[in-house]
Amino acid sequence: MNFFSRTYRILVQFLCVPILVSDFFCPRTGHEYGVTFWTKLKLLVKMMGNNSRILSGSSFIEHIIMATTLLNTPKDIQGCVVECGTYKGVSATNMSLICGLVGRRFKVFDSFEGLPEPAPQDAAHEVLDIHEVHAYQKGWWAGSLEEVRSNITRYGNINVCDFYKGFFDTTLPHFNEPCVQIFLDVDYVSSLETCLIHLWPLLRNGGYLYTHEAQHTEISRLFYSEGWWQKNLKTEPPGLVGAGTGLGLKILTGSHFTSALGYIVKNPQLSNFQKFDQVGGLKLDFSATGKLTKPGAMFKGEKNRAN
Ligand SMILES: C[S@@+](CC[C@H](N)C(=O)[O-])C[C@H]1O[C@@H](n2cnc3c(N)ncnc32)[C@H](O)[C@@H]1O
Repeated sequence: MNFFSRTYRILVQFLCVPILVSDFFCPRTGHEYGVTFWTKLKLLVKMMGNNSRILSGSSFIEHIIMATTLLNTPKDIQGCVVECGTYKGVSATNMSLICGLVGRRFKVFDSFEGLPEPAPQDAAHEVLDIHEVHAYQKGWWAGSLEEVRSNITRYGNINVCDFYKGFFDTTLPHFNEPCVQIFLDVDYVSSLETCLIHLWPLLRNGGYLYTHEAQHTEISRLFYSEGWWQKNLKTEPPGLVGAGTGLGLKILTGSHFTSALGYIVKNPQLSNFQKFDQVGGLKLDFSATGKLTKPGAMFKGEKNRAN
């Protein structure tokens, strides 16, 4: 990529930031928790700074997207927030700040010694959208518990955090607390499978589960696997918003907006969604821009998808 193309992309990315954070700054985001515009502004600056201070595998815009859904989770829905896959703790540092604001415990799961030995299916993943193959080896992405603790103590909120050290197949089977939001940044399909088997039943209806491997063919495929979901969780596959491309948050490479972040909502309240009759003959209509569904609507209402 030449200098002008690169500079142009950085400029476009910069100009898009107000749109990408518009839900975060919407007055009703965090209103129930008494979080004001100025608190959010200070938080955004702090989160952005944390991303430059701590070696990181995810971006602050991705953290802001997850912060927004957490600030919009109704206060009366009980549950903690979970992160699996922490590395040096940047996403954990930023999410601990939000958990402090909304009064929820933040549960951090990691080996704190990097990735386990990859199964053959995880030695390399196809990332078709950006024409990359991501390769993995045992011990990569290592961050020790001391490093993570120290980063969160300096830049986040250590008082809301609980740490669970060990490979997921040893720690998660003993975890049994209801969760309102989950962030899985675990690289491997095998790690994702363990996390889903143990955490999906604990996620409240309407809760968000984010993955940071939405662009990986192998990972997004799992969210659509009828056989896997029926066998392991006795439910329909939920699909994945952002499968193959991630949410459209960055335009620093390629010709369209992408990111590593995707999500699913557990049994969303479809009755609260806006209904559009697809009769055909639609014209370009800018009147329908903006958010259509109120915060918390995923949780509250008459019927879940599963009911
Ligand atoms: C890409 S890094 C996480 C990046 C981090 N979320 C960030 O924003 O910088 C992946 C992490 O997943 C952890 N991990 C992957 N599979 C694991 C498993 N089976 N058990 C425990 N930890 C695992 C690794 O130790 C590593 O810390």
